[in-house]
Amino acid sequence: VRVGVLGGGQLGRMLGLAGVPLGLRFRFLDPMPDAPAAEVGELVTGHWSDAAALERFARGVDVVTYEFENVPAETVRRLAERVPVRPGPLALETARDRLREKRFFAGLGVPTAPFAPVDGADQLADAAAAVGLPAVLKTRQLGYDGKGQRVVRRPEELEPAWRELGGVPQILEAFVSFRRELSILGVRGVDGDVAFYPPVENHHHLGILDLTLAPAPALPPALVDRAEAYARAALEALDYAGVLAIELFDAEDGLLVNEMAPRVHNSGHWSIEGAVTSQFENHLRAILGWPLGPTAARCAAGMVNLVGEMPPPEIVLAAPGARLHSYGKVPRPGRKLGHVTVLGADEAERDAAVAVVRRLVAGERGS
Ligand SMILES: Nc1ncnc2c1ncn2[C@@H]1O[C@H](COP(=O)(O)OP(=O)(O)O)[C@@H](O)[C@H]1O
Ligand SMILES: [Mg+2]
Repeated sequence: VRVGVLGGGQLGRMLGLAGVPLGLRFRFLDPMPDAPAAEVGELVTGHWSDAAALERFARGVDVVTYEFENVPAETVRRLAERVPVRPGPLALETARDRLREKRFFAGLGVPTAPFAPVDGADQLADAAAAVGLPAVLKTRQLGYDGKGQRVVRRPEELEPAWRELGGVPQILEAFVSFRRELSILGVRGVDGDVAFYPPVENHHHLGILDLTLAPAPALPPALVDRAEAYARAALEALDYAGVLAIELFDAEDGLLVNEMAPRVHNSGHWSIEGAVTSQFENHLRAILGWPLGPTAARCAAGMVNLVGEMPPPEIVLAAPGARLHSYGKVPRPGRKLGHVTVLGADEAERDAAVAVVRRLVAGERGS
């Protein structure tokens, strides 16, 4: 069985690493000839709209999925005519436009921060009146790792922020003073079977995920039920197949959905060692119509991202129990190069292991 993956980044690489033991073969499409996934499968180098590259990519693959959601809709539609694309085009188109995404959740009765569309500068004042200030102005498309957004505190900051974001279609969202950020990963099979990973707690540094604690500490059962209900509603409405990640704000006035990613997600990397079945394996099982694997956490896990610089392996591995994942990428500031997962029998043991890893990585940076 051959799986085609749009995008050859670290997520594609980890899909391959999970799928090879299951007997799967992989083909990736990526514009970059040094895409990290090339080491675990065949790489077709080409742009998303390159018809010849698409042809080489699609020939003989049994199912197509993606690890990158900014593939043009036209490319995905063209592929979907000849091979199952899972998750389907609807999920992709909903998730990559922040306005569509927020309207989608509102339509499901799932709470989000108040939001308003900003198609042009003339709508800024109305949008601010509707959602209030402070607020976050975001481009509707192509934002990631905190890029493509500005916090706006006063009315006179609206227009400069809109201009700095390129004057493209945007969305204004009320600023949420959350207690913490969580995410939940759901997985749905072709037959409609659904399973959820435990919600996790995410900490960001400079807009980039820095640390995930899995399961999230101090999770009231009612909160888990609510997060699962929101994820389930989205999975069903999109007739979804695969892993879906939903980012959440745990706020004073309840749980709010921030955004979703129609793919495996950085906040699920802990599941490789920390869950009975990893998000990567379950994504593959789901899109192939195979039975889903158990999603329970084996223990308390912590995932530390390695961003910008890669510490020498022997430094990281000096931390007892540290599991190192290096993506084979050229270092660049702000670039996700790898991650480290540690496990503990309980939260205290996990937190201690996280602290050791962070100390080693920071010490390496400081030297
Ligand atoms: N409405 C908001 N209120 C407060 N903080 C926000 C809001 N929207 C985003 N943020 C912060 O910015 C981070 C990145 O925003 P997000 O919408 O998740 O975009 P992306 O992850 O695609 O860059 C969030 O994880 C959160 O810390
Ligand atoms: Mg996000």
